[in-house]
Amino acid sequence: MTRNHFLTSLLGVSISAFAIVIFFFIVFFIFCRRRKQPSTESDEEHDVESLDHDKQGFSSETEKLVTFQGGEDLTICDILDAPGEVIGKSSYGTLYKASLQRSGKVRVLRFLRPVCAVRSDSKEFSGVIETLGFVRHENLVPLLGFYAGTRGEKLMVHPFFSSGNLSDIIRSGDGESIKWSNILRITIGMSEALDYLHSGMQKTIVHGNLKSKNVLLNSSFEPRISDFGLHLLLNLAAGQEILDVSAAEGYKAPELIKMKDVSKESDVYSLGVIMLELVSGKEPINDNPTGDSEFYLPDFMRNAVLDHKLSDLYRPEILTSSGNNLSEECVLKYFQLAMSCCSPSPSLRPNMKQVLRKLEDIRKC
Ligand SMILES: *[C@@H]1O[C@H](CO)[C@@H](O)[C@H](O)[C@H]1NC(C)=O
Ligand SMILES: *[C@@H]1O[C@H](CO)[C@@H](O)[C@H](O)[C@H]1NC(C)=O
Ligand SMILES: *[C@@H]1O[C@H](CO)[C@@H](O)[C@H](O)[C@H]1NC(C)=O
Repeated sequence: MTRNHFLTSLLGVSISAFAIVIFFFIVFFIFCRRRKQPSTESDEEHDVESLDHDKQGFSSETEKLVTFQGGEDLTICDILDAPGEVIGKSSYGTLYKASLQRSGKVRVLRFLRPVCAVRSDSKEFSGVIETLGFVRHENLVPLLGFYAGTRGEKLMVHPFFSSGNLSDIIRSGDGESIKWSNILRITIGMSEALDYLHSGMQKTIVHGNLKSKNVLLNSSFEPRISDFGLHLLLNLAAGQEILDVSAAEGYKAPELIKMKDVSKESDVYSLGVIMLELVSGKEPINDNPTGDSEFYLPDFMRNAVLDHKLSDLYRPEILTSSGNNLSEECVLKYFQLAMSCCSPSPSLRPNMKQVLRKLEDIRKC
C-alpha cells in the first residue's frame, strides 16, 4: 500500500465512523425529544394527564428549556430521562428525586400538572420564570432550570437537600429542635429569606405558600425556604386549592380570599404561625378556617389566647433544656413578635426589616 493510498483509506474510515456517530447522535436526540413526559411519571398517570387536556382542548405549546446559574449544563434529555423517585405529591404536581445520568448529579424535579399551570407561551410567564430563576440567597432553594413541553407539562429543576423539612423536625421529639439557638437560627434565616424576596430585588416576590413543610434544614439547622412564587405559575383553580389547604393547615392570613391577593403582609402572617409552631411544637391546624374573624387563629393558639393561658403556647422544655440558659422574658419577647406577625389586620403586622431588628434584640437577650 502506498502512503497516499493508506491516507485515503484512513480518511475514508474516519469519515464513515464520524457519519455513524452523527447518525446515532441524531437518532438518540430524536428519541429523547419524542419522549415528552419524564420517565418518572407512571404510565397510568400519563394517560390521565393527556386525556385531561385533550378534553380541555389545549393546543400545543413550544418545547423549551431555560437554565440558570448552577444549571447551565442541563439538557432536555437529562431532565426527561433521569430515573426518579417520588418524594412528594400535591394537588398541582409531583416532586421527584432524580439522578441525572450524564453528570451523576442528584436533583429535585418538580412536575407541574398541565391542567394546573398557566400557559408557558405567554410573555408574562417567561417574565415570571426569569424572575424566579435569578433568585439566589443562602436561605432559599434556587431554581436551576425550567422545562416546558409541548403538551403543557412543566418541570422545575432544583438542587436536592437531604436533611428534613422543618415540620417533621419540630415534631420529631429531637432535642435539637428545642434548642433556643436553633430556634433563633431558623427564625432569622427564614426572615432573611423573606426580606430578600420582599425587598432585596427589583421586583417583590410574594412567597404565597409559606409553611413549615416548605422549609428545609441542613445539618447545622440553617433553613432554606422552597416553593416561593409558585403561585405565579398556577392558574386560578390550582391557586385556590393551595389556599384552601393553607387555610386548613393554619398558615393562611385571615384577610385572604383569593390567591391573587397574597401579599408581603400575608407572608408575614404565615411566618408568625411558623414561629408559634417552633416554640409550641404543635401543629397549627385550623378546624374553622372560614370562621369568625375574631377566631381566625389556628385552634391551639386561639384557645390559649381566649383562656389567657399563654404558657400553653410554648414548650416548658425550652426554658429548662440544658444549654439554653434562657429567661422566660426572652421567650415572651419572641412570642410577642410572633403574635404581632399574626395580627388580624395586615397593616398592624411588622415588615420583614422590623422583624429582623426585633430578632436581633431577642438574640442578645
Ligand atoms: C448549612 O447552610 C449554611 C448556609 O447555607 C452553610 O453556611 C453551612 O455550611 C451549611 N452547613 C452544613 C453542615 O452543610
Ligand atoms: C418532610 O420530610 C419527611 C422526611 O424527611 C418526609 O417523610 C415528608 O414527606 C416531608 N414532608 C413534606 C411535605 O415534604
Ligand atoms: C446563665 O446566664 C447567667 C446570666 O444570664 C450567667 O451568669 C450564667 O453563668 C449562665 N450559665 C451558664 C451555664 O451558661
